[in-house]
Amino acid sequence: MRREEVERLLRNIKDLKVLVVGDLMLDVYLHGKVERISPEAPVPVVEVVGEEFRLGGAGNVASNLASLGAETYVVGVVGEDERGERLLSMLKEKNIKPAVAVDRRPTTEKIRIVSRSQQLLRIDREERRKVEGKALRFIREAVADIECDCVIISDYAKGVITEEVMEEVKRKGVFFAVDPRPVNRELYRGANLITPNEKELRDMTDPLSEESVEKLGERFKEEMELETLVVTRGPKGMTLFREEIKHFPAKAKEVYDVTGAGDTVVASLVAFHLAGADWDTACELANVCAGIVVGEFGTAVVRPADILREIELEKREGLRGEGGRVS
Ligand SMILES: Nc1ncnc2c1ncn2[C@@H]1O[C@H](COP(=O)(O)OP(=O)(O)OP(=O)(O)O)[C@@H](O)[C@H]1O
Ligand SMILES: [Mg+2]
Repeated sequence: MRREEVERLLRNIKDLKVLVVGDLMLDVYLHGKVERISPEAPVPVVEVVGEEFRLGGAGNVASNLASLGAETYVVGVVGEDERGERLLSMLKEKNIKPAVAVDRRPTTEKIRIVSRSQQLLRIDREERRKVEGKALRFIREAVADIECDCVIISDYAKGVITEEVMEEVKRKGVFFAVDPRPVNRELYRGANLITPNEKELRDMTDPLSEESVEKLGERFKEEMELETLVVTRGPKGMTLFREEIKHFPAKAKEVYDVTGAGDTVVASLVAFHLAGADWDTACELANVCAGIVVGEFGTAVVRPADILREIELEKREGLRGEGGRVS
């Protein structure tokens, strides 16, 4: 891939308006030291030395898009609590425009307790139920009103993505992509792009079957009337289903934390494709982007400078591999 081509795509992304609809989450990291076992129970005592907040779920998809340069809107819900306020101000800080309903539920939060880069415990606070009433009306109106080039559905099955909301999304008539949850399979019919991981694909087709990903993917794409299917396969990379099936190996150098890699994949695939990249190029770039974030701690976002650096590196390694000279 040529650097100039990637630079051109990154420039085009700046003209894109993307709307992310889905489940917002706050990721909290409590960093601590463990030096003793509790006298109260046979558990370690963690002395907290640092606290970090990151955008998770749909917020992380939006964050990746904003970082790539797109004008980014996000529609979802938070609770009437401090965490919700923090989440909103974090979105605004990143230049993301929120249209967020305040609902009678806690803001979804995932607290990770970490010591020496090891996760000791995760604490989830959430209420999973379909959004209804006032909050649902707010979301439908926001989806209908926001003008955009494309919509990304970031579904974590907490309740924002429902039949009503998907009707509204489809009514807009723009390109829409889905990062799916198997329970909501039926809502995704006719998507322009869908990005399940291998397990999600199996769960949405035939969980007990021993058929290959290729067979299952082909069948799923056909049945669901999908334009493009990209199945992410962790350390193995991703597989693109269009008229043909094509495999793209993963690009990570060192793997530190795979949290949020799927968010980066859907954000970068959509951004690069709508900026003018064909699907092969979009997949190659999404692999580069995911490879960068799995090399970083926690839910991370990809930056244009990192992508360009990675591409230069690959080019040099390629030249070396072919016995060429590196200047
Ligand atoms: N261990 C790994 N080594 C190299 N690359 C990886 C690894 N894990 C993930 N990736 C990259 O990240 C992409 C998405 O990862 P994966 O298939 O695990 O998505 P996911 O299960 O949806 O993740 P998430 O936990 O974010 O939902 C892969 O296609 C690959 O490019
Ligand atoms: Mg995922």
